[in-house]
Amino acid sequence: MGTLDLHGRPLRNLRLSVTDRCNLRCRYCMPEESYTWLPREDILSFEEALRLTEVFTDLGVRRVRLTGGEPLLRRNLPALVAMLAELPELEDLALTSNGVHLQEQAQSLREAGLPRLTVSLDTLKADRFEAFNRRPHLHRVLAGLDAAADAGFDSIKLNSVIIRGFNDDEIVDLLAYARDRQMEIRFIEYMDVGGATDWEPGKVVGKEEIRFILQQHYGAVEELGEQGSAPAQRFRLQDGTVFGIVASTTAPFCSQCDRSRLTADGRWYLCLYGEQGLDLREPLRAGLDRQALAEILRRHWQQRDDRGAEQRLQATDRTALWNREKLHGKPHLEMHTRGG
Ligand code: GTP
Ligand code: 5AD
Ligand code: SF4
Repeated sequence: MGTLDLHGRPLRNLRLSVTDRCNLRCRYCMPEESYTWLPREDILSFEEALRLTEVFTDLGVRRVRLTGGEPLLRRNLPALVAMLAELPELEDLALTSNGVHLQEQAQSLREAGLPRLTVSLDTLKADRFEAFNRRPHLHRVLAGLDAAADAGFDSIKLNSVIIRGFNDDEIVDLLAYARDRQMEIRFIEYMDVGGATDWEPGKVVGKEEIRFILQQHYGAVEELGEQGSAPAQRFRLQDGTVFGIVASTTAPFCSQCDRSRLTADGRWYLCLYGEQGLDLREPLRAGLDRQALAEILRRHWQQRDDRGAEQRLQATDRTALWNREKLHGKPHLEMHTRGG
């Protein structure tokens, strides 16, 4: 069963951020003009990231997802993929990318042993993409998706964060795009995580509304079985097309949450909303062995009480989680440092 936290939740899922840098500025994640970046000397080497991942497998981690920032900005990422793909304990390895550099890297990532890929795609309109992400890169993302489709991944998923007044009129078209390419799209409710300083309740398009819009256009939508600890609820259209909805804002899955995240500089967060992380870089660089590190992790996980998204649901007058002043100069509170 492995180690359980205070709510009886095991640790199965690790989100490993390899860089806090990003080449887009999505409004829901990086709306500010400037950011404080993690110091380069603090960033874990691939060997260090691998050693920590091994320790995490001792606690029960079986699934690893590489994240950023934008993970493809980390030089020579396929080398890390190859190292992780060799770990016998891991049952799943995936990567979440914004797709901008996928055209150049899809093939080498696949060859290094990456089985699964998730790409963010919030709009199919170039002018909208540029206005929203402050970079004119939609054509590169679409070319990247074509390259990924050719590279032969076991699965490619698309993530679309739906924001009222921005892309809620594209839900039907985004699904059509995914269906044509046999990619599984997940519509994500806009979340009030750190970094999302423009968040307002009125901008959230909830699960039921997304489902209704799709039903109006595509006909009956059938809900598929148990969600378990996965953030996405899955649905099927009559023609067999499967899609997901991540309802982290209106229907959080904290009670089942078996995930945690490690930042690129080795800080461990037990919740997307958590304010304090545990520094693992220091004990690692001090030379503690695998067993001693596992003991530190185990003790910390046993004290885990977090249910951030559920607690946010109770908040009255809900606004952004942290305001600009609170975030300023604190990269660890940012979604782009925590890996989404
Ligand atoms: P699969 O392995 O394919 O199920 O991936 P995933 O859905 O876990 O990963 P992905 O990176 O695609 O995340 C999808 C969305 O789920 C993110 O954009 C977040 O909105 C949400 N999400 C991811 N992790 C957490 C978490 O720890 N807590 C909450 N509340 N939401 C999360
Ligand atoms: N709300 C919902 N999803 C978000 N992501 C980043 N910020 C937010 C937010 N405020 C998503 C990205 C990406 C994933 C890693 O996290 O769209 O798909
Ligand atoms: Fe967008 Fe991801 Fe970059 Fe955040 S880290 S700005 S969600 S591409």
